[in-house]
Order: sequence, then structure tokens, then C-alpha cells
Amino acid sequence: METTERIIILDFGSQYTQVIARRVREFQVFSEILPYTTSAKAIAERQPKGIILSGGPASVYSPKAPQVDPELFKLGIPVLGICYGMQLIAKNLGGKVHKSTHREYGRGTLTVKSTSKLFAKLPKKLEIWNSHGDKLIGAPKGFKAIAVTENAPFAAIEHTNDHIYGIQFHPEVAHTPRGKEILGNFIKGICKCKGTWTTASFIDRTVAEIREQVGKSKVILGLSGGVDSSVAAALIHKAIGRQLTCIYVDNGMMRANETESVKRIFANGLGLKLVVVNASKSFLSKLKGVTDPEKKRKIIGAEFIRVFEAAKKSAGKAEFLAQGTVYPDVIESISIDGNPAAMIKSHHNVGGLPKNMKFKLVEPLKQLFKDEVRQVGEALGLPKEMVWRQPFPGPGLAVRCLGEITEEKLRILREADRIIVEEMKKSDWYYKVWQSFGVLLPVRSVGVMGDERTYDYTIAMRCVNSQDAMTADWTRLPHELLAKISNRVINEVRGVNRMVLDISSKPPATIEWE
Ligand code: XMP
Repeated sequence: METTERIIILDFGSQYTQVIARRVREFQVFSEILPYTTSAKAIAERQPKGIILSGGPASVYSPKAPQVDPELFKLGIPVLGICYGMQLIAKNLGGKVHKSTHREYGRGTLTVKSTSKLFAKLPKKLEIWNSHGDKLIGAPKGFKAIAVTENAPFAAIEHTNDHIYGIQFHPEVAHTPRGKEILGNFIKGICKCKGTWTTASFIDRTVAEIREQVGKSKVILGLSGGVDSSVAAALIHKAIGRQLTCIYVDNGMMRANETESVKRIFANGLGLKLVVVNASKSFLSKLKGVTDPEKKRKIIGAEFIRVFEAAKKSAGKAEFLAQGTVYPDVIESISIDGNPAAMIKSHHNVGGLPKNMKFKLVEPLKQLFKDEVRQVGEALGLPKEMVWRQPFPGPGLAVRCLGEITEEKLRILREADRIIVEEMKKSDWYYKVWQSFGVLLPVRSVGVMGDERTYDYTIAMRCVNSQDAMTADWTRLPHELLAKISNRVINEVRGVNRMVLDISSKPPATIEWE
């Protein structure tokens, strides 16, 4: 098999490292994030077409500053240093970095001074985004300044013979509107990548790899109906057909029609071997009387593992466990003071399996970002409503049904949620937001229905915009849409007489209520 064209990104703790990796892939080139401690030798062995040094919050002169293996600059592989990455180039190759006490942060204008492959086909003036403390005041030997800003005489530098480039600003963020073209000039023009990393080539290669890894053995997969496990199931099924058994656990806290649609799409549609375990009774009995959110999560997590363990026997003796792990789950956040990406770690993932199960793992999506997973799902023919669905937590409606969970409260929440989803889809808002759902509050309040006084539950609607669930803001939905949803929920769902809108952002609130 032809070796994959790749660009390596060394991570120095920038909050934008993953964004750089995504941008590279938009040029159909595979990108891989490695910790800054990776040796030049280890990098060379991976045969990258280019290396990008990310930004980072440190100052190159601070005693704890992350360093780069200087041998990297002798490999003859093109290097692009972004912000902190550029200062590392300067520090290692003999430039001068001025230690600054304040950060230059925000928009700026770049003036391109001389012809450079890095700025090919771009105008002389470019809007850019800065976020740096230290700055370069003298270029290393053999380098020249190719662009300046009002405050920086060395905003971009190059050494054409050694193919080493440095830029002070951030080309990867949307605030640098032509940044994508600058990265493209590096990837295509300087590193000479052809762009062969496509969805189709990924599927072909991965199918071959799965066949080789698994041989004639059996594989099991916990299918939740979410995007990642669904796409993993479809991909592995394409590779090994009925050697794969998917286990779907209905914990009684699924949304309306969830189980039916999993059966329809996977068992009937794809012809996949699917074991559906209806475990709602056992989950609900274990949750009886429990109101503490953490306790609820723990019970659900433990019960899921117990039910899955029992169900997996029906798959026959399986040697492999498949999981829909995606790239952001795999990348280790570099822990450097001031790096927000390292500070906010995902705090829970209930609904998963323990790490110590005695299986070999098949994780075909572990190099993909979420939107790439979706592209693969579409290419494999999964329906849009599955591939583009919003995230749904492992413990299901349990974290949205506050207080004690009962079948009656779940019924109310499920009906309200179905109406919310329906109206969000009808109005074209569903796919524009990160999540939109209902939460059943554990209080009842007084209302009137016809001539009668009611004493019923309240549904809160939560709708947020987010990039990665780390932070979120509540979506400003049109009042007409909110009115329609509230009308329908209150009139159609027996047991609800009031609806409220959650207008808190994350932080300090979380997206889910429990
Ligand atoms: P919070 O509530 O922490 O949620 O702001 C962030 C994102 O994670 C989802 N979420 C979960 N996903 N298992 C999951 O697979 C869980 O236990 C879980 N809890 C929350 C949540 O829906 C949101 O998108």
C-alpha cells in the first residue's frame, strides 16, 4: 500500500493545535498531532512531508518552556513554526526573541515584503490574528523577513534553502481570513503534498486493515445509536460482514423511536447482526428512589457493563471489541500552565465499557475528527438523520429527568423531547445547533386547563451552540419557534402545564442538567 502523505504537528500546548490538524486535512492530507517531546528520529521514521510547530502559552526563555529536538531542523523536511513555534526556530537557530511583558492579542494587518512561496497568490496586505507575548527582533542566520506588521519587523521569516518558515500570527483561526491559503501554500507548494487522503481512500484502506487485523475472528461492538458507534459498525460490517455482532442495550432511557430506528437501519437496512437487549426493567428497578445525580450515573454505568457482559455471550467467542473512539479522544492534551485545552478535560463518559476488558481493540475511527466520521458515515450510505444527529449522553434521558426516575416521568419527557426534535427539524434549526432537548424538572406547579385547575410538571428547553461541548452558549431561537414548541408540548403532553427556556451558558452551567 502506498504510504500516506502526512504532515506532523508538534504540540506545544496551543489551544488551536487541533484546529491546525483539521485545516491540514481540508487539503486531503493526513495530519498527526504528536507531543513536543517526540524526537527528530521518531519524526523522520514517520516520513512526513512537512512539520508544523504549534503555538503555545509559554515563553521560550522560561525555565519550564517546552523545547524542540534541534535535530529536527537538519532533516531536510519543510518546517512551519506558528507563533511559539516560530520563536523556537529563532531560539535554536540563532535569532533574537524579545521577552515581552504583555501579550499582543487581536486583529492586525500583515504587509508582505518579498515574494515567498508561503504567500503565493495572496495580496500584499492581509488581515491576521495575533496572540503572542514574546516577539522576534532579529532573524536567525540565513533567514529573511518576508512580512511585517505595525509592531513586528519579523512577522514572517523564511530560509528557502532549508525550507524553514516561521509566522508570528495564527493562520489556522477564522479571524485570519486568508489563513487557509497560507497553510495551503505550505502544504501544497512547499511540502509538495498531492492530497490523496480522501473519504473513499480512507474507507478502502481501513476496510483492508480491519480484515487483516481481525482475520477470521469474531468482533463485538456496543452500538448506542450515536454517530461514532454507528459509523464504526457500518465500516466494520463492510469489512467483515457477519463476523461482527453489535449489541444494543435499551436501558429504558432512550428517546422516542430510538430502538426501532436502530433496528431498521442496521438489522434491516445493512443486514448487520444485531442483538437488542431490552433491559429497561432492570435499569429502572435499580434506579428506584435514587435522586442524587452522581449516584444515578454510577448505577447506570455499572448496570450497562453487567448487561453488556451477559449479552456478549450470544455473539459466540469474540476475540475483538470494536469501539467508535475518535481522534480528539486519543490526543493527549499537553499540560502546560495556561493551556485551556489541558485544563478542561471531559469529566465523565458514562455509558462506556471499562478499559480492562480482555479483548483486543478494533478502533477504525481513531484518526478521524467528528466531521470526518460523519463524511465516512454518509459515504457508507447511513441516513442523514443518523449521521448528523446531535450528541446524546450515554445515560440517556436519565440525566434530563431530574430527581427520581419513574416510567411516568420518562414518558412525559420522551413525548416532550419528540416534539422539540420534530419542530427543530421542521424549522431547519436542528442541524444548526449543537444540541436541543427537553429537561423534566422535578417540581410541579399550578395551571388552568379549560375550567380545571392543574398541578403538573414543567419542561425546560435547552438549546446550545458549541464547537466541542467544552464551552457553549444558549441559542437565540426565534420567538415564533419557541411559541410553537411550548404550545405543542403543553397541549399534547399529558402531565405538563408549563415550559421554560434555559438561558445559561457553559461555563458556569453545564449543557446537561445532571
Ligand atoms: P456537559 O453536561 O458536561 O456535557 O456540559 C458536555 C457534552 O457531553 C455530553 N454528555 C455525555 N456524553 N456520556 C456521553 O457519552 C455521558 O455520560 C455524558 N454526559 C454528558 C452532553 O450531552 C454534552 O454534549
